Amino acid sequence: MKEEACPIVENRNIRKNYFLMKLKSDYVSTHARAGNFIMLAASKTTEPLLKRPFGILRVKPPFFCIYYEIVGKGTELISSLKPDDTVNIVGPLGNSFPPIDNKNILVVGGGRGIAPIYYAIEDYTSVPSNNVFLIYGARSKDDLNLLEEIETLSLKKIFLFTDDGSKGKKGFVTTDIREIIDEHNIDVTVSCGPDAMFETLFHALKGMGTENYVSMEALMGCGFGICHSCVVKTVTGDYKKVCTDGPVFRLEEIAWEQ
Ligand SMILES: Cc1cc2nc3c(=O)[nH]c(=O)nc-3n(C[C@H](O)[C@H](O)[C@H](O)COP(=O)(O)OP(=O)(O)OC[C@H]3O[C@@H](n4cnc5c(N)ncnc54)[C@H](O)[C@@H]3O)c2cc1C
Ligand code: FES
Repeated sequence: MKEEACPIVENRNIRKNYFLMKLKSDYVSTHARAGNFIMLAASKTTEPLLKRPFGILRVKPPFFCIYYEIVGKGTELISSLKPDDTVNIVGPLGNSFPPIDNKNILVVGGGRGIAPIYYAIEDYTSVPSNNVFLIYGARSKDDLNLLEEIETLSLKKIFLFTDDGSKGKKGFVTTDIREIIDEHNIDVTVSCGPDAMFETLFHALKGMGTENYVSMEALMGCGFGICHSCVVKTVTGDYKKVCTDGPVFRLEEIAWEQ
């Protein structure tokens, strides 16, 4: 992990309130692994005070990209940054998705959760002995971003779902997941999305016999273990920090029903 001022190469509005930012950093682009995140300062002033966490979408040294959605003040400010501006970042942070080979893997991305999933797909499809399948879901077709890039990756099959049925099948990423797992003999699932998706996933995957990993979001103050703002309760009753123990956890490790 390193703090540095990174030049912005591109900060492009993909559509609606979704943006793709390309940054230059020798350090992050050569040290990051799929699942890692960065903390990024939304402005050079103390308003907002805290840096914001973003998953790493992909790396191509000396560059790396993040994909983000405007949800509040910080992301609004970040969206106004221009090429050649510099931003303060800390990273890469957190743990990463486990290395997997010789398995049938189902990756699941819900909404902006596609960011770390994209990196995981690149990683897992680069191992020839893996067969990688994707379930990608969002509110509507205009929220299913990065699809063109995703279609160029070596996925065995892509299953699309939208809440309103405007693209793919009407439903959630969990709607057909049991059938997809059965049909394609899935060994491992790797997911990122909102907590509500994980709760449904937790129930949907019960008894399926798959090994399940999730990349979680939480409110983060520091990003490296100091402030305790990101803790989640585990099934043992202990708390873990999403920033340093995660963001990747075994699905069954987290106390979804409280
Ligand atoms: C490890 C990690 C990786 C992330 N990766 C991405 C990513 O790749 N792309 C992306 O768009 N976002 C990602 N996020 C979420 C992103 O950090 C928040 O959306 C952002 O910090 C919001 O800042 P803001 O100032 O715009 O919103 P705020 O004004 O701080 O908040 C606006 C609203 O969003 C909610 N919110 C803020 N932060 C979070 C959060 N972490 N989880 C759930 N709700 C939140 C607030 O409760 C509030 O309702 C990630 C979060 C974590 C912890
Ligand atoms: S964000 Fe500060 S401890 Fe996790």
